[in-house]
Amino acid sequence: MCGIFAYTGSKKASPILLEGLSMLEYRGYDSAGIYMPGFDVVKTPGAVAELTKRMTKDYSATSGIAHLRWATHGAPNEVNAHPHGDCDGDVFVIHNGIIENFRELKEELLAGGHTFKSETDTEVIAHLIEGALKDKLNFEDAVIDTLKKLRGTYGLLISYAKDPDTIITARMGSPVVVGLGDGENFIASDATPILKHTKQMMFLSDGDVAIITPTTHRVRTLLETEVDRPSETITWDVGEASRGGYPHFMLKEMMESPEVIENALRGRLIMEEGKAKLGGLEAVEKELQNIDRLIIVGCGTAYYAGLIGEYLIESLAGVPVEVELASEFRYRKPVIRPNTAVLAISQSGETLDTLEAIREAKRHGALTLGIVNTVGSTIARETDAGVYNHAGPEIGVASTKALVSQVVILSLVALFLGRTRSLSKDDGVALANALKSLPELAKKVLEQSEEIRKVANVYKDSRDFLFIGRKFSYPAALEGALKLKEVSYVHAEGYGAGEMKHGPLAMIDEKFPTVAIVPQDSVYEKTVSNMIEIRTRKGSVIAIATAGDEKIKEVSDHVIYIPKASEELSVVLSIIALQLFAYHFAADKGLNVDRPRNLAKSVTVE
Ligand code: G6P
Repeated sequence: MCGIFAYTGSKKASPILLEGLSMLEYRGYDSAGIYMPGFDVVKTPGAVAELTKRMTKDYSATSGIAHLRWATHGAPNEVNAHPHGDCDGDVFVIHNGIIENFRELKEELLAGGHTFKSETDTEVIAHLIEGALKDKLNFEDAVIDTLKKLRGTYGLLISYAKDPDTIITARMGSPVVVGLGDGENFIASDATPILKHTKQMMFLSDGDVAIITPTTHRVRTLLETEVDRPSETITWDVGEASRGGYPHFMLKEMMESPEVIENALRGRLIMEEGKAKLGGLEAVEKELQNIDRLIIVGCGTAYYAGLIGEYLIESLAGVPVEVELASEFRYRKPVIRPNTAVLAISQSGETLDTLEAIREAKRHGALTLGIVNTVGSTIARETDAGVYNHAGPEIGVASTKALVSQVVILSLVALFLGRTRSLSKDDGVALANALKSLPELAKKVLEQSEEIRKVANVYKDSRDFLFIGRKFSYPAALEGALKLKEVSYVHAEGYGAGEMKHGPLAMIDEKFPTVAIVPQDSVYEKTVSNMIEIRTRKGSVIAIATAGDEKIKEVSDHVIYIPKASEELSVVLSIIALQLFAYHFAADKGLNVDRPRNLAKSVTVE
């Protein structure tokens, strides 16, 4: 997820572009860059403040393209910052998305004599356009010719020095909005930076290519026919626009879950062999084959992701796993033997306790690994190897989409480790197929947002909640409780369902509802028994159950259904349902769910 912004009109482009970019900083802040025809590209690590410092000339250009990067391929440094150009410095490209076949394309281009400056997938696009222009195609046809060769996702901005007023934009999987002004037009990844200039917006569809000048706009598809994309008048304010029209970032980010799962899986599954290809772990593949113990460390939600990881990795790969709160691990004397690996899970890559736990592990000579969302963050840099989430920035303080992504990556790690150990090819293929279908299933849970809201509203006056589950649903119960207390400030406890008789049952009465996570898995009957015990004590039960399970209604007051999925992956769907429950419960009370009181997004102090 990156921020893209372009302007073509009659005013000076540079202040408009910089201001537009600054409004997109929530989409990425690893590096920034700008190109205006007639001037050199300016780029820098960091965000708009750093870029502004480097823009030392008086730029007279009246068009330009600008970018904020959330790094995926290539480190977040100046060389990899967008825009990327061709060999002649005539064509410049800005890209939000991932080009999957860029390695093949790059090899062909290198063989054809092109020279590359960066490690990015994006740069191939500029060189392909250069090639097509040399084959005598005009700018527009050269772009179309190039797009037909790309596989992957993109929201693109393309500028050509020899046609300075024209900007070509294209969409495949990554959002592109065109703002239609009076003698000037704008392009961006969402409406936020455009609203100040015009409320008239045209939203591109996948496969659309738009040719934009100060006074004209045309849309073609890759099949070359012109299409009519009517514009709409947007009434959102700037805040709403940056939240994609949702009332909160938390909801927007939950709604991104299907895309987040796809991003986590992209290029990482070898379907026919039932294997995972994790480029970030290849350098330590030998050491990983020899590890006889894995310790997972994390804080908050990332720690719960670790607990799910323990179940996944032990059952699929047979590697003994322990999960520890990073804050505990760093202060006790953990036993770390030569073949122990320590895996940090962190969305931000900056949580101090997790970072210190990794440093402690290093002092003991352990192999250190990371599952991190923020490219180039301290944990990403200090671990020996790792896997990035590619989930895009998470703004809501309470982690949602990052957890979904972490669990998906942990299943890939389990598959990766499992297939070099005892996991059979058939089981590997089954898991790969289950992962492939996960985005669709996640969508189905999200479609029930309103239903879940209604259930949450029934319990709006409750001050205490219990969340229970077994096996994979146990960490889900812990997370369900954490999410609810974080955003709504009510008391919530997560428990292993089997522990009811060891304490929690004593709290149950008619004022103490329980959320039971009870998918149809190998421990289904056991959890049902616990639900009956609760109901016998007059406690209400909200079940998170598998679609089609009618019988569960007999032991519940309310049921939230999730689609049927494999035992290992059903937990992802339960988590999304629990996140929606917590969100609606708190948002309907008018609470600021994006910034809960007393909490911070990234805890970089003790
Ligand atoms: C804070 C956030 C949580 C997050 C935790 C760990 O407490 O509010 O949502 O799970 O930090 O953060 P990390 O960036 O390391 O995943």
